[in-house]
Amino acid sequence: MYYPDELIEEVRVKNDIVDVISGYVRLTKKGSSHFGLCPFHNEKSPSFSVSRGKQMYYCFGCGAGGNVITFLMEYENYTFLEAVQALAERAGVELPKMEYSREAKEKANLKSTLLEINKAAAQYFYVQLKAGQGKAAHDYLTNRGLSEDTIKAFGLGYSNKYSDDLYRYLQKKGYTEDLIRQAGLISTDEKHGVYDKFWNRVMFPIMDANSRVIGFGGRVMGDAKPKYLNSPETPVFDKSRNLYGLHKARSSRKPYFLLCEGYMDVISMHQAGFTNAVASLGTAFTAGHASLIKRYVQEVYLVYDSDEAGTKAALRATPILKEAGISAKVIRMDPYKDPDEFIKNLGAEEFEKRIGGARNAFMFGLEVLEKNFHMDSPEEKTAFFQEAARRLMQFEDELERNNYIEAVAKTYRVSAESLQKLVTKEAVRAGMAKPVSRPKPAGERPEKKEDPKATAQKILLTWMIDDARVFQAIRGFITPEDFTTPLYQTVAGMVYEQYENGNLNPAQIISHFQEEEEHREAASLFHTRIRELTTGQEKERALKETILRVKENSIDIRAKELHPTDMAGLQRLMNEKRNLPEIEKLHISFE
Ligand code: GTP
Ligand code: MN
Repeated sequence: MYYPDELIEEVRVKNDIVDVISGYVRLTKKGSSHFGLCPFHNEKSPSFSVSRGKQMYYCFGCGAGGNVITFLMEYENYTFLEAVQALAERAGVELPKMEYSREAKEKANLKSTLLEINKAAAQYFYVQLKAGQGKAAHDYLTNRGLSEDTIKAFGLGYSNKYSDDLYRYLQKKGYTEDLIRQAGLISTDEKHGVYDKFWNRVMFPIMDANSRVIGFGGRVMGDAKPKYLNSPETPVFDKSRNLYGLHKARSSRKPYFLLCEGYMDVISMHQAGFTNAVASLGTAFTAGHASLIKRYVQEVYLVYDSDEAGTKAALRATPILKEAGISAKVIRMDPYKDPDEFIKNLGAEEFEKRIGGARNAFMFGLEVLEKNFHMDSPEEKTAFFQEAARRLMQFEDELERNNYIEAVAKTYRVSAESLQKLVTKEAVRAGMAKPVSRPKPAGERPEKKEDPKATAQKILLTWMIDDARVFQAIRGFITPEDFTTPLYQTVAGMVYEQYENGNLNPAQIISHFQEEEEHREAASLFHTRIRELTTGQEKERALKETILRVKENSIDIRAKELHPTDMAGLQRLMNEKRNLPEIEKLHISFE
C-alpha cells in the first residue's frame, strides 16, 4: 500500500532541492547554502536556507524544515503521496499504479479520503443543480446574473430538500459515517438521527490553491437565516489558510489580487473578467491569509462592502497586509453596496476605472478617522493630527515614513516640517524603545506537550545526528532499541546503519516516513536546536545525563515487558543496569 523506500529515494534524489525550491522562492547563494525569504512566515530579511549538500531546507526564523518532499507538503498543502507524485512527474520517474483497498486507503491517508469525499459531494451537488429538483436553485443563480459557464467554472451546486440524501449517497459509495462526519457533511441529534448539514441551499464548493474541494458554503435562496452555512474546520479545511477563488486567481497573471468579502463578489468579478479576485471564507482576514497571498503577489486592492462593517474590515486588514510586506489599496464601491452590485449596475469598464482610482490604504484610514473630528475646532483638529502622527510612527522605515508624512501634510495642508516634529514627539511619548509587537507567524503550530522521557530520546537523537563524535562515543552504550518511542526507534535504526556505512543522509531518513504526522515529526528531529551550552564541560555533563535518562527508561520499560520465564533476558537487563556507572566515566571532547 506504500511505495517502496527505494522508489521514493529515486524520486527524491532526482529532484534537487535547490532547483525545486527555486521555483517557489528566490534564492541567493551564500557560502555553502542558498538563502531566501521564508515562504512559511512573514519576514523582511532572509532566514530561510536550503542546502544542496544535505538536500534539506531550514528556516532559522520559524523552524520550518525538511527535505524536498516535506517542502511540497508544506507549500502546496500536498499529502505525502501527492508530493511524491508531483516530484516523480517533474523528474520523469514512472510510478507504478497502485490499487488500494478502500480500508487500506482510509488508513493510509485520512486527508486524501476527506478530499475524495468532498469531491464526490461537490459532484453530487452539481448534478442536483442541473436536475429537475434543482430548478429553483438554478433559477436563483441565473436571476443573480450568473452564466452557465460561470456556474460550471465554480462548480456551483444545490443541496436538495431530502434531509439525508447526500449521506446515503456517500454511504453507498462506501464511505463510513465516521468519515462523512469528519468531512463536516453530516450532523446528528437525538430526534432526527443522522442528517445532511446542507439542506435546500445553493452550494459553493471551496477549493484550495490546487483546485481540490476542501469545504462548502451553502446559501439560502431567500431571506432565511443564517444566510450562509459554512463547513466546519476539518483536517483539510483551515479557514485561515485558504481563500475563495485562489485556485483561479493564482494564475491570473496580474501583479495584484482583488480582495473582497463574499463568495458572490468573487464570482461576479471573475465573470466580468477580473480573475484575480479572492475572498476570505466568512471569517476575518488573518496573517495566514496574508502570507498565503504573499506567495503570489505583492499588492492587494481591498474591495470591501461600502457599509460601516466593510470599512472597518478593510481597516483591520491593512495592517495585517502591511506586516506581511504587501502594499494595500482601497477601492470604493459607492453608491453600491458591494462589487457584485457595482458590476451589475455599472459594468466592468467602470470597475476598471475604480481600480485606477484606488486609494492608498493608509490615506484611506485617515479619511475615515477624520470623520470623527470636527476639523474646524482647533482642539479637535490637533487631536486628529496627534492620532495621525501616532499612525505615521508605525512606519519603521525612515524613507517610507517621510514619504507618508509628506503625503499627509500635502493632503491636509499643514507643513511637513511641523508634522515631522509631531511624529517625533509622539514617538518619544510612546517610549520609542518599546519593541514592535508582531503577530505570531502564520505557520506556527501550537507546541505539543511532550513526555519528558520521549524528549530525552529526541534530544539524544538530535545530538547524534548533529555531531558524529557523539555517535561514536555512545554507540557502545546505547542501541536503537533503547529509543522506546517507536518513531525514534526507527530513526535511530537508520541513523546507526548510515553511520556504520559511513554516510549520514537525513533527507533519506525523512522520506522513509510516508504518513503525514510521522513525516513532519521525523523532519523536526533534524533541526531541533539544542539549548546553547557554553563550555565543553557543560555539554559533556548534559549529554551524560541524557544518555542515562534514555538508558534507565529503556531498562524500565523492557523490565516491565519481560516474560517471567525469560531468564536470559533478565540477566541481560541486570548487566545493563550494572553497567550504568560506566556512562559516568564516558569522555567526550567538545573542545
Ligand atoms: P450575497 O448576499 O448572496 O450577495 O452573498 P455575499 O457573498 O455578497 O455575502 P455577504 O457580503 O453578505 O457576506 C460576505 C461573506 O460573509 C459571505 O460570502 C460568507 O462567507 C460570509 N457570511 C455571510 N453571511 C453569513 C452567515 O449568515 N453565516 C456565516 N457563517 N457566514 C456568512
Ligand atoms: Mn453580495
